[in-house]
Amino acid sequence: SLSIQGRHLLSWTDFSQSDVSKLLSMTQYLKENPYSKALSGKVLALLFEKSSTRTRVSFEVGMTQMGGHALYLNSNDIQLGRGESIHDTAKVLSGYVDGIMYRTTSHEKLKELSEHATVPVINGLCDLYHPCQALADLFTIVELKGSLKGMNAAFIGDGNNVAHSFMILASMMGVNVKVATPKGYEPDPALVEKSMQLSKDAEGAFQLTHDPEEAVQNADIIYTDVWTSMGQEEETEKRLQAFEGFQVNERLMSKAEPDAHFLHCLPAHREEEVTTGVIDGPQSAVFQQAENRLHAQKAILQALLASENIL
Ligand code: CP
Ligand code: NVA
Repeated sequence: SLSIQGRHLLSWTDFSQSDVSKLLSMTQYLKENPYSKALSGKVLALLFEKSSTRTRVSFEVGMTQMGGHALYLNSNDIQLGRGESIHDTAKVLSGYVDGIMYRTTSHEKLKELSEHATVPVINGLCDLYHPCQALADLFTIVELKGSLKGMNAAFIGDGNNVAHSFMILASMMGVNVKVATPKGYEPDPALVEKSMQLSKDAEGAFQLTHDPEEAVQNADIIYTDVWTSMGQEEETEKRLQAFEGFQVNERLMSKAEPDAHFLHCLPAHREEEVTTGVIDGPQSAVFQQAENRLHAQKAILQALLASENIL
């Protein structure tokens, strides 16, 4: 059984390969058996400081399918948005709910919430990480390719939150990862270091490059995210220039394995980081990946919040 009950999920760096393997099996089980009473009577607060479609809906639906309830809290509508402290918010919410998902602008705020909450805190996206996304990504690769170990994945674009969680989790699970970014948009050096160590332990390979064509060579998976993330809108023009040549288009896809699949966490800026031809094309698995957010998060919820574990 999975011994991560009651823990916070801020980043996969706090978890082991065996924890993640179990979560992936649980994801498969819950995809095949969606309805249960595993979280009967449990309530998850969803605290959002930024917009969301997938994360919000998949958490709400997931809690309902497992017999629990999700409470959507936009920070603008609660006192947190008027200056009530994270410290007090964490303590108050802990008195009502069984878990708190938090989407925020900074990992520091997430850490502060988790330090004062007495219920599990789940990172629903911050500046550094998007762990729930990465679990769905890895599960999608298993579905598409049958395994993780020895697969070649190329992340093309911004060394941001999505790239960070993907490279950490994929490296941990033995996927060979290449990350291609423009100069100045590389992933966080400490997380590069961590990914290198994890991939060494899993007998994989981790590589950084500034050349997208080099990254997609032999790639089974091509993954990208937007060039301008939420909160960076004033940098849009600068980024459009910096990321020239990093678009995932038909020409770049043709340099990868013929049976390679395209992934994107969504939302996409079509004709910026990816062409319509690729995202709507036969190699794209983005909607399967988006659906898998639901199944993967239910595994996380089951593991962290359920009183009894099924696996
Ligand atoms: N991929 C993702 O997290 O999407 P949302 O911003 O819609 O939740
Ligand atoms: N990198 C994007 C991901 C959105 C799910 C952002 O932070 O806006």
